[in-house]
Amino acid sequence: MSIECTCQPVFGLTQDSKQNALWAASGFTGSPGQTLMTLSAEVPVLLVGLGPVEQVTTGSLREVAALAGRVLSDAVSASWDFESLSLLALPSRKIAQSIAEGVTLGSYRPGTDADRKTQWQVPEGHSEAWSLGLAIGRATVRTRNLVNSPPNVLTPRAFAAHCEQTANEHGLVVRVYSQADLISLGFGGILAIGGGSIEPSLMIEVTHEGASIKPDLSLVGKGVTFDSGGLSLKGAEDMIGMKHDMAGAAAVFEAMTLLPLLAPTLHVKAYLPVVENLPGQGAARPGDVVTMRNGRTVEILNTDFEGRVILADALAYAAEEGPAAIIDLATLTNAAVRALGERTAALMSSHERLSELVRKAAESSDEPVWELPMPGYLGEQLKSDIADYKNFPGTANARALTAAMFLRAFIPGEIPWVHLDIAGPAWAAEPYGLTTAGGTGFGVRLLAGLFQTFTSQTVS
Ligand code: BES
Ligand code: MN
Ligand code: ZN
Repeated sequence: MSIECTCQPVFGLTQDSKQNALWAASGFTGSPGQTLMTLSAEVPVLLVGLGPVEQVTTGSLREVAALAGRVLSDAVSASWDFESLSLLALPSRKIAQSIAEGVTLGSYRPGTDADRKTQWQVPEGHSEAWSLGLAIGRATVRTRNLVNSPPNVLTPRAFAAHCEQTANEHGLVVRVYSQADLISLGFGGILAIGGGSIEPSLMIEVTHEGASIKPDLSLVGKGVTFDSGGLSLKGAEDMIGMKHDMAGAAAVFEAMTLLPLLAPTLHVKAYLPVVENLPGQGAARPGDVVTMRNGRTVEILNTDFEGRVILADALAYAAEEGPAAIIDLATLTNAAVRALGERTAALMSSHERLSELVRKAAESSDEPVWELPMPGYLGEQLKSDIADYKNFPGTANARALTAAMFLRAFIPGEIPWVHLDIAGPAWAAEPYGLTTAGGTGFGVRLLAGLFQTFTSQTVS
C-alpha cells in the first residue's frame, strides 16, 4: 500500500467508543486487533480496535500498537489520537510508553534499525513517556538484530566491537577482557569452552556508575556466538539456530543502555562471557578438568553443556565485587523449553524477594517467567569423583534445574541471585503479539521494568 499523506492519525477505539455510522457499516466494531483504514476530512485515518475499555491493559495496548506500527511501517509520519485513549483506566504515562514500545517492535524488520521509520508526532504532554518507550523499543530492536546476525558475522570480536560503539553512544563504560587477560585472571571455564575456535574468547564488562560504591545489581549474560556442541557435537538438526545462543548477553547489554534514562543513580555492572563453541584444535575434551576463576575445579564431561561453564566463571567474578544482587540471563537448556514452552522463561532463585521483584517486572512488561525449584537432592548429580563439580548431570531429568544449581554453586550464598533460562522465549519460529519471527529481544523490557523499581535496599 502506498501512503502519501504526511500525517496519519491512529485512533485506538474501544468497543465503548461512540460508533460512527460509516465505521459501523464497514463492520468495524472496535474488537481487539481489528483495523480499518478510512478517510476523515481528507486525512487517512487508521482505526484500531482495543476491545472493551475495562479489559485494556498495557500489554494489550502494546500489541494493538504493534499492529498499527506494522500497518503503517511505510508511512512517513503519523500520530496517535491520545484523546481517544483518555477513556482508558491506565495512567497516561503508561499509555504513551506502551504505544511507543508497541509501534517500534511491531514495525521491526530484520536488519533494519528503528530510526529511519515513521516519524511519530507526539503531543508535548506525552513526549517524555513516549521517548522512554521508544528507547526501550530500540534497545529491543538492537537485541533482535544481534541475535539474528549470522554467526560468521557476529563473532566474539564483532560482539565486543558493537558493545564498544553502542556504549559510547549511551554513556556507558566498556572494558573488553582479551583472551590473554582471561588467562592471567584464571578464567579456566571460559577458556576451555572457547578453546576449539580460532576466534579468541572474550569477556565484556559494562559499567553504569550510579550513586553507590558497590554495584546495586550485577548482570551476567550467556554469549555463545555459535554453539556447535564442541567435541560433544550436536546433530545437524539440533545445530540449526544455535547462532542465538548469545541472546542472554545481547539482552543484558542492550538493557544496560537504558540505565542513563531509566535509573541514572543505580550502579549496575554487566559481565558477558563471549565465546564460540567449536570442536577445533584446542577444544576441551570430555574428561578435561579445568580450574575456574574462584579456584574450584570442574570436570567437563560433555562440551555441549558449555553455558553453565562460562557463566560460572563470570558469576564468580561478578560476585567478587559484592554486588547487592546478581541476575543472569541465558539460553541455557532445552529442558526449560520442554517444561514451559517457547514463550515463558524459567526462573530459579536463591532469594524470595529478588525473585518476586523479577516476577513483578516480568508481569508488567509482559515477558512471562515461571519459577522452578532447586530441590537439594539433585545436587548429587553435580558431584564429580575427581573435581569439585562435573558439568554433565547424571540423568536427562530436570536439566533446567541442575543447570541452575550448578550456577548457584559459584555465587556466595549471601548474595541474592536470580537465574533466567530464556532458551524458549529468546527465539520465535513464528511471529506472535509484539514478536517478529527470529530473535525476540526477550529480557530487555523485563530488565527495563526492573531498573525502574530496583534499589539495593529492597533485597538487603
Ligand atoms: N544452547 C543450548 C541450549 C538450547 C537448546 C537453547 C535449544 C535454545 C534451544 C545448550 O548449550 C545445550 O546445548 N543444552 C543441551 C544440552 C544437551 C542435552 C546436549 C540441552 O539442554 O538439551
Ligand atoms: Mn550447548
Ligand atoms: Zn549453548
